[in-house]
Amino acid sequence: MSNAELIYLDNAATTFPKPESVYQAMDQFYRSYGGNAGRGGNPLARKAASLVHETRELLKLWLSAPEVAFSPSATLALNTAILGADLGMGDVVYVSPFEHNSVLRPLAHLRKAVGIEVRVLPFDKQTFACALDDVRKQFRIDPPAMLCISQVSNVFGAVLPVDELSLLAKQANARAIVLVDGAQAAGLLLPTMERIDALIFSGHKSLYGPFGIAGLAFGTRWRPQPIFFGGTGTQSDSLDMPAQGMGRYEAGSQNIVAVAGLHAALLWLHEQGREHLQSHLNSLTHALVSALQSIPQATVYTPQQQSGIVSFTLEGISPQAIETALGAKNIAVRAGLHCAPWSHEWAGTLEQGGTVRVSGGWFSSEKEAAHLFDSLKAVV
Ligand code: ALA
Repeated sequence: MSNAELIYLDNAATTFPKPESVYQAMDQFYRSYGGNAGRGGNPLARKAASLVHETRELLKLWLSAPEVAFSPSATLALNTAILGADLGMGDVVYVSPFEHNSVLRPLAHLRKAVGIEVRVLPFDKQTFACALDDVRKQFRIDPPAMLCISQVSNVFGAVLPVDELSLLAKQANARAIVLVDGAQAAGLLLPTMERIDALIFSGHKSLYGPFGIAGLAFGTRWRPQPIFFGGTGTQSDSLDMPAQGMGRYEAGSQNIVAVAGLHAALLWLHEQGREHLQSHLNSLTHALVSALQSIPQATVYTPQQQSGIVSFTLEGISPQAIETALGAKNIAVRAGLHCAPWSHEWAGTLEQGGTVRVSGGWFSSEKEAAHLFDSLKAVV
């Protein structure tokens, strides 16, 4: 099967294809200047270092963040922020019901290791709206030490009220740490960064870059303790990680070929503009939700929002069987729990094995959504 025949609707797992310039930049990096950034002053090392610097600057601009640290994946970046936050016994951490295991597992570790408490914020099961008045009251009774929420649910595509929740958290406790998992949305939505201590981004999802590059965009002056140790190319006579700067979070050689790809992806994103991407995904989400809702056997678990992610089930057919049937028709979707088990517990879809998730991206078309609809009718 050639990719030309494939209808790829699994962009929440990773966006595909990438803009052509991303492939070109990665190929060119290894062919013409594959040096190691920050390790020595030879011309190739200097060229690689300036690529890392420029990419950091582009990200700072795109995410309106004063500082950005790189990490090999959003999961490792979330671990850095959560485990490096110095939480202690009795500290209350609030999460949404939609968090990924890259948030739930480090928090479960801290619950066992130091005795933090994890509380789940209330969301309406029909509208996906957050009960902000109840949250305000809850925060007054038990102020948050940390708020850790997704910008967009990787299962249902719901857009969370990040601005409102971060404001409530800071009002209840000026020292509350606000972390936002922006893995699905950093290329699409921009929250108010002044109230977000760290927004975690993933290069290979909505930023349209390659695997192997992600990081933390710091909106305030809060910084976690480093949790990885090693060479940074600076202050090599010290056994401590540098006290200042982003290097303290970047132990080991950078994945510079991935940085080269992300650099090209960011130039492409800046050229497209956020509104353009949002408007495309908004129309696509509407088309997908309307088509799915017209199938009598379908239950759709997604509000009409602009993330491009839609989850559904078909009565009497397991999500995995639907994924396989669509796969046989060259349509790529993802079924199951999507590494976010609490989402399915919340929606009541855990026992049936989760949902089928359809996720569009910039390169998905409404024609492809219509093709998915026809194929699903045939499956039913
Ligand atoms: N976390 C990714 C997903 O939602 C892999 O599919």
